[in-house]
Amino acid sequence: MAATIMDGKALAAKVKEEVREQTSKMERKPGLAVVLVGDDPASRVYVNGKRRDCGECGIYSEEYALPAETSQQELLELVETLNGREDIDGILVQLPLPRHLDEKAVLLAIRPDKDVDCFHPFNVGQLMIGEAYLRPCTPAGIMRMLKEYGIDPEGKHCVIVGRSNIVGKPQAMLMLQENATVTVCHTRTRDLKAECLKADILVAAAGRAGLISGDMVKEGAVVVDVAMNRSEAGKLCGDVVYDEAAERASYITPVPGGVGPMTRAMLMENTLRAAWQHGKR
Ligand code: GUN
Repeated sequence: MAATIMDGKALAAKVKEEVREQTSKMERKPGLAVVLVGDDPASRVYVNGKRRDCGECGIYSEEYALPAETSQQELLELVETLNGREDIDGILVQLPLPRHLDEKAVLLAIRPDKDVDCFHPFNVGQLMIGEAYLRPCTPAGIMRMLKEYGIDPEGKHCVIVGRSNIVGKPQAMLMLQENATVTVCHTRTRDLKAECLKADILVAAAGRAGLISGDMVKEGAVVVDVAMNRSEAGKLCGDVVYDEAAERASYITPVPGGVGPMTRAMLMENTLRAAWQHGKR
């Protein structure tokens, strides 16, 4: 079976266009503050992309590029200031933070109604009980993509490889909410191949190039590759051996151009939703 490629780039453009249409009608525009501490080159690329997205979507954005030596107190003071500003609806502190900073304490300081990443324990709890107003961007982007391609998780077996707080765990919650049967695999899973072969929907989010070979994909499965790795040849790739998996899957996401653009688009949607929640119309 030749798999249908799920075009995250095209769908992200559509989602962003929908956001732009909404913001164009708003008297007070949504605002996003992006905080970057230190000079991690990958983080810089991500932050630039997020700000560009804001521009395209009619979302006001501000960037705080702080030196690597920034103290915990300085960072918390900035978050506190942003928490209190009416023109800022979303606060995104780019991770990872330099090692001397306490990531958990920083994420806890962001007001939950401005937590567009959905990393605050309050929002994580809301997600767990199926009441999330802001949903984590990557898992939400994947759900949106499945919907767009007419893939209903109800009754299907979804196997997630990876148990991170950013992707694996929240993905499991969103899949459960859509009535999938969910298995979460990780590095200690005894027989990863046997688990993966059960998947009607396979979400690979382990961050290890080549982890999922074609023989681990059930015939006709939907394969979603979240990872962004560099192969030994320096090429961007996911966890899935794409060419092999594409021969067996019914649908598959490419890397790049699959989940990544959807994550960014959902950040725009979350910022719009936060602004709505703040009474902006
Ligand atoms: N670093 C890598 N991915 C993310 C993300 O989704 N949000 C934030 N804040 N930092 C990240």
